[in-house]
Amino acid sequence: MFTIAHERPSDAAGIEQLLDLSFGADRTAKTVYKLRHNVAPLDALSFVALEAGEIKGTLRFWPVQIGEAEVPALLLGPLAVHPDERGRAMGLALMKHALDEATRLGHRIVILVGDAPYYAKVGFYRAGAVDLQLPGWVDEARFLARALVPGALEGVAGMVRSINPETATVAPRKQAARR
Ligand SMILES: CC(C)(COP(=O)(O)OP(=O)(O)OC[C@H]1O[C@@H](n2cnc3c(N)ncnc32)[C@H](O)[C@@H]1OP(=O)(O)O)[C@@H](O)C(=O)NCCC(=O)NCCS
Repeated sequence: MFTIAHERPSDAAGIEQLLDLSFGADRTAKTVYKLRHNVAPLDALSFVALEAGEIKGTLRFWPVQIGEAEVPALLLGPLAVHPDERGRAMGLALMKHALDEATRLGHRIVILVGDAPYYAKVGFYRAGAVDLQLPGWVDEARFLARALVPGALEGVAGMVRSINPETATVAPRKQAARR
């Protein structure tokens, strides 16, 4: 059985390997990586799925802001599960765990680019992102959003931009738990 834990600094190399394996080494050319450029993922929302001490899954979030109103939000991803471990609900477990924690920490909106039928399982939908834009090309059908608090997406519109976590309205916390 796998467990979910906060990412540790020593997990970084294993996570890079898993991301290369899952998305290819050219993944950073994608539009969403513009929102990650020179910005660290949020420590408090960076998780790994572990089995027998090995990293089998990874999920991170980046802070972003939306529109002229600079509404704070989270960019979900990358999410990856090792090819040998797929179909065990590890991806969904990582997301449920992280989204619960994000809600607990006071975050209100999450956006992502990904397969709509998969992310619908944890509440993401296309209509939530229909008034939002990303800073580059994206297959719009894959651009999704979810409110963590009812009504949080109402009236939210505009370009998604990267944000310095130090100035985020909901400040990221330092890594809360260690293993
Ligand atoms: C996408 C990914 C994270 C899914 O991880 P996983 O642990 O295998 O997924 P889960 O076991 O949690 O999936 C649970 C359910 O979602 C379904 N599902 C998985 N991937 C799906 C997809 N891309 N589209 C639609 N449904 C999907 C499964 O069939 C399963 O359905 P079921 O409960 O009816 O049997 C994994 O396949 C992966 O790492 N892929 C490569 C990287 C990637 O594409 N990441 C996502 C970026 S968009």
